[in-house]
Amino acid sequence: MPTAIAPPLAHRERLLIGSVIDASTGLLAEQRHDIVRFAMGAPSEDLMPIAQLDAAFDGVRSGRYDYGETEGEPVLREQILRLSEARGIATSDERLLVTTGGMQGLDLAFKIFVGPGDLVVVEAPTYSNGSATALSYGAELLPVPVDDAGMIVDALPDLVARAGRAPRAIYTIPNFQNPTGVTLSRDRRERLLELAERWGSVIIDDDPYGPLRFAGEAVPDFSAIAPGHPLVFQVRTFSKMIAPGLRTGWIDVDPEVRRVAVRAKQAMDTCSSVPVQHAVADYLASGHLGTHLDRLRPIYRERKLAMIDALDRRFGDRVRTTDPDGGFFLWATLQGDAAELDTEELFPRALGDGVAYIPGPAFTSDGTMRNALRLCFATSSPERIEDGVARLAGAVEAELAARGRGAGAARTEGR
Ligand SMILES: Cc1ncc(COP(=O)(O)O)c(C=O)c1O
Repeated sequence: MPTAIAPPLAHRERLLIGSVIDASTGLLAEQRHDIVRFAMGAPSEDLMPIAQLDAAFDGVRSGRYDYGETEGEPVLREQILRLSEARGIATSDERLLVTTGGMQGLDLAFKIFVGPGDLVVVEAPTYSNGSATALSYGAELLPVPVDDAGMIVDALPDLVARAGRAPRAIYTIPNFQNPTGVTLSRDRRERLLELAERWGSVIIDDDPYGPLRFAGEAVPDFSAIAPGHPLVFQVRTFSKMIAPGLRTGWIDVDPEVRRVAVRAKQAMDTCSSVPVQHAVADYLASGHLGTHLDRLRPIYRERKLAMIDALDRRFGDRVRTTDPDGGFFLWATLQGDAAELDTEELFPRALGDGVAYIPGPAFTSDGTMRNALRLCFATSSPERIEDGVARLAGAVEAELAARGRGAGAARTEGR
């Protein structure tokens, strides 16, 4: 058998950059010591409605294993319509397509709208699985900085003028953004719609976290500001509301776009898993989701407060964080003497000390934001969060001491 023959990979292979975020699942699974997990953006298993999901899966055991409609099982589309209605979102069945998670919604969006060399606006930092999907279709990324009110939309016209061409797509995570946790203000949403119209760009509105608001006033969705707008492509998922292993989400888009998306999905997976769709539909029909979300919100609020409080106490001026009103994440930027640390370099020490996070550069297209990190507060109890932040502070201290700059090192020098 010849062994030195290289498989004939397509040129596209070099555009498939992979995901630091997803790779962390495998990395963590290999570890045998106790680790506080601030890395993955997933609800902890004890917060997933396992018993009710099991009951829903039991209910669909009776033979729904055939191919289904590409658009999604009608019972699930019906439940998604009801859910949207309950959240005050105007939509209709002809706009909906069930997807295999939010990631497939993003894949469909970039596949339909973006070709090689096309400009795609992304937030900086952004959810890099989303930007990686754009890259897989040959996009050129145009990063736009984010502040406490989301993407700095007013910076866009200049950046676009400098790029010399209009963006095909603007990728935004408007609520409790991944990775920063910030929310795009209403003014900026309106302005973004104006710019999208001026340039003929599609807004890819990726919102897994919107229903998980635990504080503050809701900001209207793009679909509430401009109902049925043909340039708004809404990507939604049950991963964060219910459980990511369901791999079930949907897109809510202009009916013309949906027709193209159906053809694109037919070339991907024909339809999403039929038994899973029925189980999710049963779960939703039983009315459990509202109760479940009502239970989650105060828990996540408590966890976020615990994390901010622990960071304050353990880091003092060495860290600045965002203060999200919902979702899973906050973004921590190392300050003062810790600002020179590189969170990628710090990671092995932190992992060894029993705490995991995702380093800042994983969320940028140019490897910047090296002194920042994403922390998921949703997965751990307040006690674990306290432990994890203490371990993180210890790792930072040890790293600084190793460089001769920590408080410990300073004390030694003073003696
Ligand atoms: C902003 C954002 N979009 C999309 C996804 C992917 O969702 P799913 O797991 O349903 O594919 C995630 C998951 O982390 C996310 O944070």
